[in-house]
Amino acid sequence: MARKSVVSFTSLIELLLILIGISIAAAPIVFANANTLKASYSVENVARPLVKLKRPVVILISSDGFRFGYQFKTPTPNIHRLIRNGTEAETGLIPVFPTLTFPNHYSIVTGLYPAYHGIIANWFTDPNSGETFTKRSQEPHWWLGEPLWQTVVKHGLIAATYFWPGSEVKKGSWNCPPKYCQPFNKKVPFEERVDTVLGYFDLPSDEIPSFMTVYFQDPDSQGHRVGPDHPEITEAVANIDRIIGKLITGLEKRGVFDDVNIIMVGDHGMVGTCDGKFLYLEDLAPWIEIPESWVQSYYPLLAIRPPAGVSPAIVEDFPARLHYSANYRISPIIGLLDEGFMVEQRNLSQRTCAGAHGYDNAYFSMRTIFIGHGPKFAKGRKVPSFENVQIYNMVTSILNIQGASNNGTASFSNFVLLPNR
Ligand SMILES: *[C@@H]1O[C@H](CO)[C@@H](O)[C@H](O)[C@H]1NC(C)=O
Ligand SMILES: *[C@@H]1O[C@H](CO)[C@@H](O)[C@H](O)[C@H]1NC(C)=O
Ligand SMILES: *[C@@H]1O[C@H](CO)[C@@H](O)[C@H](O)[C@H]1NC(C)=O
Ligand SMILES: [Zn+2]
Repeated sequence: MARKSVVSFTSLIELLLILIGISIAAAPIVFANANTLKASYSVENVARPLVKLKRPVVILISSDGFRFGYQFKTPTPNIHRLIRNGTEAETGLIPVFPTLTFPNHYSIVTGLYPAYHGIIANWFTDPNSGETFTKRSQEPHWWLGEPLWQTVVKHGLIAATYFWPGSEVKKGSWNCPPKYCQPFNKKVPFEERVDTVLGYFDLPSDEIPSFMTVYFQDPDSQGHRVGPDHPEITEAVANIDRIIGKLITGLEKRGVFDDVNIIMVGDHGMVGTCDGKFLYLEDLAPWIEIPESWVQSYYPLLAIRPPAGVSPAIVEDFPARLHYSANYRISPIIGLLDEGFMVEQRNLSQRTCAGAHGYDNAYFSMRTIFIGHGPKFAKGRKVPSFENVQIYNMVTSILNIQGASNNGTASFSNFVLLPNR
């Protein structure tokens, strides 16, 4: 009897996923493979020597929700300065699945897919402990892997974080020291964040951090409210460009702009949800009833965890390219929603016309930017798109330190970075 209900539940779910337009096998996508990549243009073949700094420095900048293509919405002279004299992923940086903020920021700094670094969504419940992870959770047991700040201090170098998901979590010899680690507060003006980073270059040379992060919550905050095509986004992008200009000018004033490796990325893109592509779980009765208490999240990540005793096997069909299964924290039923779809329990007539992200990383709308500028990056070079798990190795390679094992390709850095002379 119990067994029978399991079987029918499973097939009903399969039926359900098909009926509601959820594809569990999306179109395959070709990921860049380091061996087949070719530089489109390069004038130099070795890294440029440092002029003023004693050691390599990396500033990792994130502009949240900076969808690939936003850089053409409006003149962005400062970002384009980095692009023209740096190395750019010509068709954007590919986020990891789910294309959400916390999983992606933590993949960028660990080189691990979310299943391996443990931050499988922005919000989830641990099925073993019953504890809930939220964006405020700082207990180290949630955050697996070794983030860059931890790797850097492990090698006796200094790291500084001006916001980044996970940066306040004490791990290994990283204890988020007040001098070099800021507790998240979205109200801090962007100018102040940049001024603090610039201030690090005024310190005695052995106190200048080798690795720094800066995080800006725009244009994601506008994107959620108004969608990717609203003039407010254009304004937010222009503002980010102005802030990048402030950083460049400040570095130039200190004579270190050409010595610093700047890596500018976003975490994911954004897609409009104005087409009213709504799916209501309750409308699917009488075929199947999914109680609200089983649903961990609705959209863009439909995650359902039935209670003990019901064990659907859907997860087996989930595309391997998404690397989203090897963690007990991941719900056993994941609905991969088509672009722009929204799922809710029932129709509360809450039509929204705004923006969302979190969908399959194969969608172009989920892509973001990658720009590298500085001594280790060739000027004016374009490289094909790649996944953000490659960035960890890139940073450890620039800093000449041994990173932890991760999901990036070891040879990838050799391709994107100029070799040391
Ligand atoms: C690019 O770098 C060259 C020096 O190699 C410099 O003369 C030029 O002004 C730079 N261009 C931009 C747009 O920053
Ligand atoms: C939701 O309910 C409203 C009001 O009853 C209706 O106008 C709308 O079409 C419904 N939406 C969908 C997607 O069924
Ligand atoms: C990702 O990296 C972790 C840590 O090295 C490893 O255990 C795991 O097998 C890797 N997964 C994939 C898909 O490469
Ligand atoms: Zn984000």
